[in-house]
Amino acid sequence: MDSKKVILITGGSSGIGLSIAEKLAGQNYQVISLSRNKEKIERALKEKPNLKNKVDFIIGDVSSQDSINQLCSYIKENYGVLHGLVNSAGVITIGTLESLKADEWQKMLDINLTGPFLVTKTLLPLMKKANGASIINISSIAGLRPGTSIGYSVSKAGLDMLTRFLVADLGPYNIRVNSINPGLVKTHLHFDNNIFSNQEDYNKMVEGARVRHPLKKVGAPEDIANMVNFLLSDEASWISGAVIPLAGGVTEENGFLPPKEDALLKKKI
Ligand SMILES: NC(=O)c1ccc[n+]([C@@H]2O[C@H](COP(=O)([O-])OP(=O)(O)OC[C@H]3O[C@@H](n4cnc5c(N)ncnc54)[C@H](OP(=O)(O)O)[C@@H]3O)[C@@H](O)[C@H]2O)c1
Repeated sequence: MDSKKVILITGGSSGIGLSIAEKLAGQNYQVISLSRNKEKIERALKEKPNLKNKVDFIIGDVSSQDSINQLCSYIKENYGVLHGLVNSAGVITIGTLESLKADEWQKMLDINLTGPFLVTKTLLPLMKKANGASIINISSIAGLRPGTSIGYSVSKAGLDMLTRFLVADLGPYNIRVNSINPGLVKTHLHFDNNIFSNQEDYNKMVEGARVRHPLKKVGAPEDIANMVNFLLSDEASWISGAVIPLAGGVTEENGFLPPKEDALLKKKI
């Protein structure tokens, strides 16, 4: 019988990462998750009690090299190999050049961009052993055109270039690297990062975003998990370097711009 493929998901305790963990744990994968807060892991297990004993939840921080070294030793000792890495850990603070503070900018760069660089670099020896590993960076549509946070958009645009850059570096080891760039997905992101504190305001924001997606719906974490599942599979064995908008029709060209009828209405007013 085939042994399970070992997949690390950073940020697997919440939202998109948690949904990916659930999707993969239900198949022939051994899932490891890395995240910082014990409370979010407990919340995850309350939301999805079926994941108890199925996902190996590890505490650690993608922006700390020490933490990643410890993770690497742990995976080496317990699993010996890594077949897949999903860089999903991320944070956001809304702000423009004038309103975003330098430390908020730095935090987004450290976690959203330097994190995936450090994790990928440190775990590379374990991925080389897999004889065909797959790396998936959870980027954002905000990396393809300006969004609501200068630091977030720049970090995600950088992440997409990390994807593109690594294709040639890692191709010779048969390691594929792809980005998924979601539009708005309903998760804990906006509450946990203090962008919204009440449900009513959040719902208004979601509704405003919904109508700007050509398919007139926002995403569910499962939409992203399905694509990750495909990119990890042998069916995707010739795909590397793809930067994939997964956003209900929002793309680099049309991203989140108000639909024409709204623009006309505004002109009339
Ligand atoms: N939701 C959206 O609309 C949307 C759209 C486009 C892209 N994305 C991207 O999708 C990814 C997942 O977002 P989400 O919506 O699922 O958010 P979420 O529900 O807030 O989950 C974020 C996860 O990342 C972990 N994390 C944050 N900082 C970390 C660090 N330094 N080290 C390790 N883990 C860390 C969090 O756990 P701890 O805080 O406990 O560490 C949590 O498990 C992010 O990269 C985000 O930018 C989200």
